[in-house]
Amino acid sequence: MLTREENELLVRIGPGTPMGDMVRRYWVPALLSDEIPEPDSPPVQVSLLGESLVAFRDSTGRIGLLDEHCSHRGTSLFYGRNEDEGLRCIYHGWKFDVEGRVLDTPAEPPDSRFKEKVTHTAYPAHEVNGMVFAYLGPAHKRPLFPGYEWADASRSMTYVTKSLLDCNYLQGLEGECDNSHTSFLHSGVRGATAVAADNYTEKDRAPRYQIEATDFGLSLQAIRAAESGLSYVRTTRFLMPLSANVPVASRNAEGDLDGFEVHFYTPLDDSRTWRFDFGFRRTQPLTEHDVHRRSQIGPDFRRIRRLDNHYLQDRDLQRSIDFTGIQDFLNEDACATESMGPIVDRSREHLGASDQGVIALRRFLLDAIRAHQHGEEPPHIVKDSTLNDFRHSGATAGLVESTANGASDLVESARLDDLNTVAVESHGSSRSRRYTHALE
Ligand code: FES
Ligand SMILES: [Fe+2]
Repeated sequence: MLTREENELLVRIGPGTPMGDMVRRYWVPALLSDEIPEPDSPPVQVSLLGESLVAFRDSTGRIGLLDEHCSHRGTSLFYGRNEDEGLRCIYHGWKFDVEGRVLDTPAEPPDSRFKEKVTHTAYPAHEVNGMVFAYLGPAHKRPLFPGYEWADASRSMTYVTKSLLDCNYLQGLEGECDNSHTSFLHSGVRGATAVAADNYTEKDRAPRYQIEATDFGLSLQAIRAAESGLSYVRTTRFLMPLSANVPVASRNAEGDLDGFEVHFYTPLDDSRTWRFDFGFRRTQPLTEHDVHRRSQIGPDFRRIRRLDNHYLQDRDLQRSIDFTGIQDFLNEDACATESMGPIVDRSREHLGASDQGVIALRRFLLDAIRAHQHGEEPPHIVKDSTLNDFRHSGATAGLVESTANGASDLVESARLDDLNTVAVESHGSSRSRRYTHALE
């Protein structure tokens, strides 16, 4: 439970708000590369952190993220002409480059130097593996893009989707730090069918948690009972400011997870969020299952199963096989978080032991916001290229030897292939997903 004031501090992300100002110190995902696929392709509208922007790729391939409204008299540049290394407004022909310089004001006299006096708002972009990240903060404080393992993966070994979540970002992000829900929201109906021997998430529905602060955010371990002497440990990482690394992958020949997924929650505004799901493989080719979310998302990035159609919930399925009767993890997560309302009132909750990850996330963010308000640097703003290595932020899952308190102190330091791992994460058809929900 939070006070109303703490809740407000966390959920407001517009310019000038404490959380909004802090998030603007980081690179955040803004759009997919495919939305502006080639030089001089049409610009697109991008709403981000309460700001209306247009994104375009100029004639040389550079990406521009401009304030949507023309500096002259405010016409939307979305309707502009993307030509000859700039975006030209259709009202009076002013033309802007990716850095916001005014290149041309053709309605002014030929000798006018007016264009030199105007600078249009433009934000830096960084493109990596099918995603375009934006930096909306002060120019002189721009950080390095963090050195993540997935950023170095070959594009052909990656996949990414973008979908609209009709609620505040924090409701989505909290779900990533709440491992307990996987035993319910993404499970089968208890007793309806036999539970696989290695389906620890379904067998132990009240995991213990081990949570540590790190140099990138939080390391969250959910520990469940397994065969005698062993615990099943899922390690999710929260990374400042808006993402989580999640153990979602099949295993390679050595039994290691072959990659993981990164789930980003970029606020569109206070009550809507862009969810980006990025995944990569280290060695194995991608499978249809890896991109299962694509079939759930329409061309406008809205999900086919939504709040306004009750997620096409199937009550027969819910009675017989599936805990929710709602197809696909993406829609189940959306139902759980959107149905709370656009901005949930956290002063009315009743948090239990299963909510430790959520509590840790809120506390971490509140501490970071307050520190930033007092002029301190929040965690994981990367400035030193010699220290820019965050490969240790990956997500893992596997069996470890239990210690006296039922947890394991091996997990943080041990490499996964040193652990006694088993192939819990097998991929199957959508109907066998109750045996694979541990993937979520
Ligand atoms: S409003 Fe854009 S050129 Fe006049
Ligand atoms: Fe989930």
